[in-house]
Amino acid sequence: MSGVAAHVEWLDLPHLRARRSAKWTLYDPDVLPMPVAEMDCLLAPPVAEALNRAVALGDTGYPSFGRGLHEAFAGFAGRRWGWDVDPDQVTLCGDVSVGMMAAISALLSPGDAFIIMPPVYPPFFRWGGETGMRTVEVPLRQSDSGYALDLDGIERELRAGAKAVLLCNPHNPVGWVHSRESLTALADLVSGYDAVVLSDEIHAPLTLPGHTFTPYLTVSDAARQQGIAVHAASKAWNLAGLKAALIVSASDVMRDSLSRGLPYETPWHAGQFGYLASEAAYRDGDPWLDALVTDLAAHHQQVRDGLPAGSRVAVPAQATFLSWIDASGLDLGDNPAAKLLAEARLAVGIGSEFGARWGDHIRLNVGTGPEIVAEGLRRLGSVLS
Ligand SMILES: Cc1ncc(COP(=O)(O)O)c(C=O)c1O
Repeated sequence: MSGVAAHVEWLDLPHLRARRSAKWTLYDPDVLPMPVAEMDCLLAPPVAEALNRAVALGDTGYPSFGRGLHEAFAGFAGRRWGWDVDPDQVTLCGDVSVGMMAAISALLSPGDAFIIMPPVYPPFFRWGGETGMRTVEVPLRQSDSGYALDLDGIERELRAGAKAVLLCNPHNPVGWVHSRESLTALADLVSGYDAVVLSDEIHAPLTLPGHTFTPYLTVSDAARQQGIAVHAASKAWNLAGLKAALIVSASDVMRDSLSRGLPYETPWHAGQFGYLASEAAYRDGDPWLDALVTDLAAHHQQVRDGLPAGSRVAVPAQATFLSWIDASGLDLGDNPAAKLLAEARLAVGIGSEFGARWGDHIRLNVGTGPEIVAEGLRRLGSVLS
């Protein structure tokens, strides 16, 4: 496929309303759904071909025990990010949430605390409860020029006994790509403590043109000795329902800890369709991905240009199809998302779910066609009149 011009086919509303995925079944039919992190496009051709081939063969058994996906991921990571992944340090799992929780349980002991950095993907707040651990919050630092890790705050919590740092890179919902310098500083800091970094890198392939994603495990030996990453093709190629993700290590010590600590069943929970689709995406999906991120950058710009006065994207996203909007100047009350749903029939991500102090923010999914982005903006503006 490489070298073949590709483009992304965004679906219109009548086709999308025929879908039966979460995004299109969670709300009443007159609601425009823009919170759930699915995209509204057709599949990348190599992915559709892999799935069609599997259907033709009835290839719907347990997930492959071959190395095709591991090797395809290593190839993609090398081409895209200059990351030399050892396929033997890659473990298949069902999805990124399950992979993160399995890694937390494998690397920590019951009752341990881990650090999360709000505003952040809401399940980060729940994983502590679901794994029998405790969560401590060290918010990202924000300025008009961008976001930064609060290394002093992280050190304070490590000194108080936290055993892990959950990194979200690129960071959902703000779309920030952490720099090599800040990741190196984090790895140096953590190396002074009996702690690990778990880096959720699900949005990495969705890094927008002009920005550079740095895989955590490439920054230093310190990062590799005390860190793991979790990857998936599921966001970038829209495969979330097919279930496949990858837990990645890059040192003997982390590989051994994972192989001792991960449940035997971990790879068996992946789906065969997820395996086959992700393998095709990583192996042959670059041209389509290039077209996708170009479209997404335009949709982010469309949102920034079209937001009603009183709302703004404080820092433009560098990755993801998620637009994080400060709606504090719109006077939409305590719960802007509820008001938008009730009065404009527009469903958006609820700011307070990403962290208590972000109740005046909303998150809009721009992984959809420009007409639907425009309709979302129209509905957003309509509550003000
Ligand atoms: C940062 C982050 N991690 C994990 C997930 C969930 O991934 P999965 O469906 O593979 O569990 C998402 C979904 O949007 C996400 O944004």
